[in-house]
Amino acid sequence: MVYNLLKGKKGLIFGALNKQSIAWQVALKSYEEGAEIILTNAPFALRLGDTKILAEKINAEIISCDVTNLDDIENLIKKTLEIFGGKFDFLLHSIGMSPNVRKGIPYDHTNYSNFLKTLDVSALSFHKIMQTCRNYDAINNWGSIVALSYIAAQRTLDRYNDMADAKAILESIARSFGYIYGKEKNIRINTISQSPTRTKAGSGVDGLESLIDFTEKMSPLGNATAEECANYCITLFSDLTKKVTMQNLFHDGGFSSMGMSEKAIRQYEKSFEENS
Ligand code: NAI
Repeated sequence: MVYNLLKGKKGLIFGALNKQSIAWQVALKSYEEGAEIILTNAPFALRLGDTKILAEKINAEIISCDVTNLDDIENLIKKTLEIFGGKFDFLLHSIGMSPNVRKGIPYDHTNYSNFLKTLDVSALSFHKIMQTCRNYDAINNWGSIVALSYIAAQRTLDRYNDMADAKAILESIARSFGYIYGKEKNIRINTISQSPTRTKAGSGVDGLESLIDFTEKMSPLGNATAEECANYCITLFSDLTKKVTMQNLFHDGGFSSMGMSEKAIRQYEKSFEENS
């Protein structure tokens, strides 16, 4: 079902690597809902990923940008303004990477240069992008900015490692910048805290399959898929959510409010029976 919720709007989308990517689904839905899109990703991702396939499908230009590099971000925003012929209306930050997670280095043996890289790519990049957008006055009044987060920002989850700290900073940046951009330009900034999802970034986390099974059993509505996450993003980009800002919005089938579910108890009881 298409509602034309983004008719006439223009959006910049970070992080569509392949069709599993949450950003891929967001770009597709945004296009279906009438938006004009520009896609961006890191140079390595543009070499190895499928972003070009998506760009052809949705008639989008691609601009390369490593989000740790301020010159790249400045170039991205300037080119985006050129291609769109003016300001744009929404932006999706869908970026995460931890060298410690990738290399299997545990949190209590962390490598600090890796840790800094995790924070730079996954959290500070959000600040860098928004500060550059503001410097260039690139986003229309009443525009909307969304970044993707995870519940590890509030609750400790085994093996999520330094990404938990990155997500806590990311959510804090959304509030701090949301205040500034809100009072100046009525631009809203929110994070969506998404269920565990099978993607390239997700699969980097050791034990993802067990986590997906656990949260599926714990959540009354079940895990949220990437496509469902995209639907939620569309509502936040649309004019229907103009006064929602500085929030971390859980999109997790209810997991974040649960303590224990019937399905999880049953699974736990089964393991007792098997071990007795
Ligand atoms: P993904 O692997 O498809 O997307 C991550 C993106 O980050 C990739 O496109 C990658 O190229 C990009 N990226 C990495 N380093 C970059 C750099 N230096 N410059 C520019 N881009 C860079 O995975 P997914 O899951 O779609 O991740 C998107 C967001 O969703 C991330 O913030 C992730 O933490 C978040 N998220 C994912 C969950 C999951 O279970 N997959 C759950 C909750 C949140």
